[in-house]
Amino acid sequence: MKYSTILAGVALAASSSRASVVVRNPTAEEAAAEILAVPLAEWKRATDQSPKGYTPSLVDCPSDRPTIRAASTLSNQETTWLQTRRNNTVSPMRKLLGRLNITGLDTNSYIDNHANNASALPNIGIAASGGGYRALLNGAGALAAFDDRTVNATASGHLGGLLQSATYLAGLSGGGWLVGSLYTNNFTSVQNIIDKNNNGTGSGSLWQFGNSIFEGPKTGSIQLISSVEYFSTIHDAVSSKGNNFNVTITDYWGRALSYQLVNAPDGGPGYTFSSIQKDVDFAAGNTPMPILVADGRAPGETLIPINTTVYEFNPWELGSWDQTVHGFVPLQYVGSNFTAGNITENEQCVIGFDNVGFIMGTSSTLFNQFLLQINTTAGIPQVAKTAIADVLGRLGNAQDDIADYPNPFYQYRNSTNLNAQAEMLTLVDGGEDLENIPLHPLIQPIRHVDVIFAIDSSADTVAPSATGWPNGTALVATYERSLSLYANGTNFPAIPDQNTFVNLGLNSRPTFFGCDSHNTTHTTPLIVYLPNAPYVYNSNVSTFDPAYNTSERNAIISNGLLVASLGNGTLDSQWPTCVGCAILSRSLEKTGTTVPDVCKACFKKYCWDGTLNSTTPAGVGYNPTMKLPQNAIKVTSGASGFGVMRAMPWMAAVAVSAWVIV
Ligand SMILES: *[C@@H]1O[C@H](CO)[C@@H](O)[C@H](O)[C@H]1NC(C)=O
Ligand SMILES: *[C@@H]1O[C@H](CO)[C@@H](O)[C@H](O)[C@H]1NC(C)=O
Ligand SMILES: *[C@@H]1O[C@H](CO)[C@@H](O)[C@H](O)[C@H]1NC(C)=O
Ligand SMILES: *[C@@H]1O[C@H](CO)[C@@H](O)[C@H](O)[C@H]1NC(C)=O
Ligand SMILES: *[C@@H]1O[C@H](CO)[C@@H](O)[C@H](O)[C@H]1NC(C)=O
Ligand SMILES: *[C@@H]1O[C@H](CO)[C@@H](O)[C@H](O)[C@H]1NC(C)=O
Ligand SMILES: *[C@@H]1O[C@H](CO)[C@@H](O)[C@H](O)[C@H]1NC(C)=O
Ligand SMILES: *[C@@H]1O[C@H](CO)[C@@H](O)[C@H](O)[C@H]1NC(C)=O
Ligand SMILES: *[C@@H]1O[C@H](CO)[C@@H](O)[C@H](O)[C@H]1NC(C)=O
Ligand SMILES: *[C@@H]1O[C@H](CO)[C@@H](O)[C@H](O)[C@H]1NC(C)=O
Ligand SMILES: *[C@@H]1O[C@H](CO)[C@@H](O)[C@H](O)[C@H]1NC(C)=O
Ligand SMILES: *[C@@H]1O[C@H](CO)[C@@H](O)[C@H](O)[C@H]1NC(C)=O
Repeated sequence: MKYSTILAGVALAASSSRASVVVRNPTAEEAAAEILAVPLAEWKRATDQSPKGYTPSLVDCPSDRPTIRAASTLSNQETTWLQTRRNNTVSPMRKLLGRLNITGLDTNSYIDNHANNASALPNIGIAASGGGYRALLNGAGALAAFDDRTVNATASGHLGGLLQSATYLAGLSGGGWLVGSLYTNNFTSVQNIIDKNNNGTGSGSLWQFGNSIFEGPKTGSIQLISSVEYFSTIHDAVSSKGNNFNVTITDYWGRALSYQLVNAPDGGPGYTFSSIQKDVDFAAGNTPMPILVADGRAPGETLIPINTTVYEFNPWELGSWDQTVHGFVPLQYVGSNFTAGNITENEQCVIGFDNVGFIMGTSSTLFNQFLLQINTTAGIPQVAKTAIADVLGRLGNAQDDIADYPNPFYQYRNSTNLNAQAEMLTLVDGGEDLENIPLHPLIQPIRHVDVIFAIDSSADTVAPSATGWPNGTALVATYERSLSLYANGTNFPAIPDQNTFVNLGLNSRPTFFGCDSHNTTHTTPLIVYLPNAPYVYNSNVSTFDPAYNTSERNAIISNGLLVASLGNGTLDSQWPTCVGCAILSRSLEKTGTTVPDVCKACFKKYCWDGTLNSTTPAGVGYNPTMKLPQNAIKVTSGASGFGVMRAMPWMAAVAVSAWVIV
C-alpha cells in the first residue's frame, strides 16, 4: 500500500474517534479521583515546549539558524554547563567521601586542596542498562542507593550522595525510561515516586505498572480515562503527527509509555526532551546531565552489527561521536529539513518533534513488540488495532522495531555516513548491538570520565542456568568495540569472557575493571560493575513482562538498592569505603597522591585481576541463591497482571531477531 493511502486511512479513522480526554459529567468515582489528583501541582516539571502537543510545528528559524556541528569538540552548551556542574559536585562529593570512612586519607583536605581545579577531582558517570521494566526498577534501586534524598541514605553503610556527585547519568532502553522519567519530572527522587504511589493510594500517577501498557492507566487515577479513550487519544496524537511525518509503531509505543513515565495530563504530549535544557535545576548544574542512547540502522539492515553508529540524545543535541556521522544536531530542531548540515534559507524550522516519550521509545524500540500484542488483547478499540496494522503494512514486519526521523544528517559526510543519502534516519533500541549498558557516551575521551557505575540489569543467562541474570555480555561488547576499527578513540579496560564472569562470580557481586590504569595505552575510566543478582527478591523477571503491581515493583527496587549497596553494607562493611576508593582512584593518580592502604585492600578484593577461566560453567551453570534470605521479600499475589504474557512464543522470536535478550 502506498504511504499516502495509509495516511488517508489513518486520518479517516482519527476523525471518527474522540479528539480529547476531558472528563465530562464525571462519575462520583472520577470526581473523587480528581480531588485526589489535586497535588499534581506539586509535581512541577519541565516542560511543554511544543505548541501543537504531539504534533511537531513549523516555526520561523532563529536568526542563528540551526546547523549540524562536527563532533570534534563538546558542544558549547555542555562545556559551559560542565563548569557549573563540576563545581557543584565538589560539596556533595566532599560530604560523601567524608562518610565513606577512607582511613588514611583526609578526604576533606584532599577535596579542599583541589577544589579550585575541579578537573583534578573525580568525574563520575552512572549508566543504567536496558532490560524493560526490570531494568527500570533495578536501575531505580541503584539510583535510590546513590541518592542522598533516600531515607537513611547518608547513614553509615549507605552510599547516598553519589548521585549528587555525578556529572553524567546515561540510560538505554528500560534504563532510558528511568532516566527520562526522572528528568521530565523535575529530577524527582525514586523515594518520592514510591512514597506518592504506594498501594495505589498516593497522589502520584508515575510508575503505575499494575495496568499494563495495553490497558492504559487505571480509571480513577490521575489520567481518568478508560482503555478505549486511552487508545483513541494515543491514536489521534500519532495520526495528527502522521499528516506531515512518517510515523512508526515507536510513536504509539512512546505515547503509551508516557502515561506511565511522564506525570502530566495524557502523559505530556507536548513535553520535549530538549526542554530539559531549560529546567532551572538542570541549567544551574544541580543535577547530572542525562543521556539516552539509540543505535543507527543502515538502510536495508535488519540485524544490528557491533560497528553500527551509536547515537546519543542529550538535552541539547542528538548525534554521534563515531567516525561515520561524527556530528550533532540541535535536538530542539530535529524534524527540520537539514541538507548537508543546513536548513535551506527560505525554509522554516520544525520544533516539537523531540517528544520525550518518542525519545524514550526510540531508545527502546525492541518493546514495540509489546504493542503488536494488541490484536489479541481484549478491550482495545478497533481503531487502534487498525492503525498499528496499517503502520506494519507500510513498513513490513522486519521494520517494526524502528523509529523514523527526518534525517538531520542527510548529505552530511557523504563518504563515511552510511545514511547520508537516506531521507529518513532510522534508529533502534540502544541495546540491539549488545552494548546493553550505555557506556558509549561516557567513554568518549573528550568527556574525561574517571569512574563509571555500570548498572547491569541485562537478562543474559539461559537454561540450564537460572534465566534472566546478567553475565557480562554488555561489557564484553563494549570492550570488543573499543578494540575494533570503529573505536574512534574510545578506550575500555580489558574484560574477560562470559564464562569467566560466571566461573569467578564476577556477575554475582560488584566487580571493578581497569583498576590499573597503566595496563592500557590510553587511560580508561575505572568501571564499577553492578550486576543484578538476588539479594532479597528474584528480580530476574522476564524482559517482556508488561505488568507489575506495587508490591513487586517495590521489591525489585529494594533489591536493586541492595545490589548497589551490598546489602546496605551488611554483606561487606568495607564496601562503602571501596566505593570511595573507586571514585578517587584516577584522581589520586592525577594529583600524585599515595593510595591509602584501605584502598589497596579494596582493589585487591574487588578488582578483576586478569584471571581467566573460560570453561563452560559446570552442571546447571549459573544459579545464584538469595544473598539476604532473612530479609527476603514476599510480594503479594497477582504481581503480574498479565502473567500469561510471560512466556509467549513471540518473545523467543524477538530475542532471535534482535540477537539479544536485552
Ligand atoms: C524542582 O526541584 C527543585 C529541587 O528539589 C525545587 O527546588 C524546585 O522548586 C522544583 N521546581 C519545580 C518547578 O517544582
Ligand atoms: C572505618 O574503617 C576502619 C578500618 O579502616 C574500621 O576499623 C572502622 O570501624 C570503620 N569505622 C566505621 C564507622 O565504620
Ligand atoms: C588541574 O588538574 C589537572 C589534572 O590533574 C592538571 O593537569 C592541571 O595542571 C591542574 N591545573 C591547575 C591550574 O592546577
Ligand atoms: C532509618 O534509620 C532509623 C535509625 O536507625 C531506623 O529506625 C529506621 O527504621 C530506618 N528507616 C529505614 C527505612 O530503613
Ligand atoms: C537498606 O536501607 C534502606 C534505606 O536506605 C532500607 O529501606 C532497607 O530496608 C534496608 N535494607 C536492608 C536489608 O538493610
Ligand atoms: C517517509 O519515508 C520515505 C521513505 O524513507 C521518504 O521518502 C519520505 O520523504 C518520508 N516522508 C516524510 C513526510 O518524511
Ligand atoms: C560494518 O561491518 C560490515 C561488515 O564488515 C560492513 O559491511 C559495514 O559497512 C560496516 N559498517 C560501518 C558503519 O562501518
Ligand atoms: C574520529 O573520527 C573523526 C571523523 O572521522 C576523526 O576526525 C577523528 O580524528 C577520529 N578520532 C580518533 C581519535 O580517531
Ligand atoms: C529539503 O530541502 C531540500 C533543499 O535543501 C529540498 O530539495 C527538499 O525538497 C526539502 N525536502 C522537504 C521534504 O521539504
Ligand atoms: C553529497 O552527496 C550529494 C548527493 O549525491 C551531492 O549532491 C553533494 O554534493 C555531496 N556533498 C559533498 C560535500 O560531497
Ligand atoms: C530466577 O532466578 C532464580 C534464582 O537464581 C531461579 O531459581 C529462577 O528459576 C529464575 N527465574 C526464572 C524465570 O528463570
Ligand atoms: C591487562 O591488559 C592485557 C592486554 O590488554 C589484558 O589481557 C589483561 O587482562 C589486562 N589485565 C587486567 C587486570 O585488566
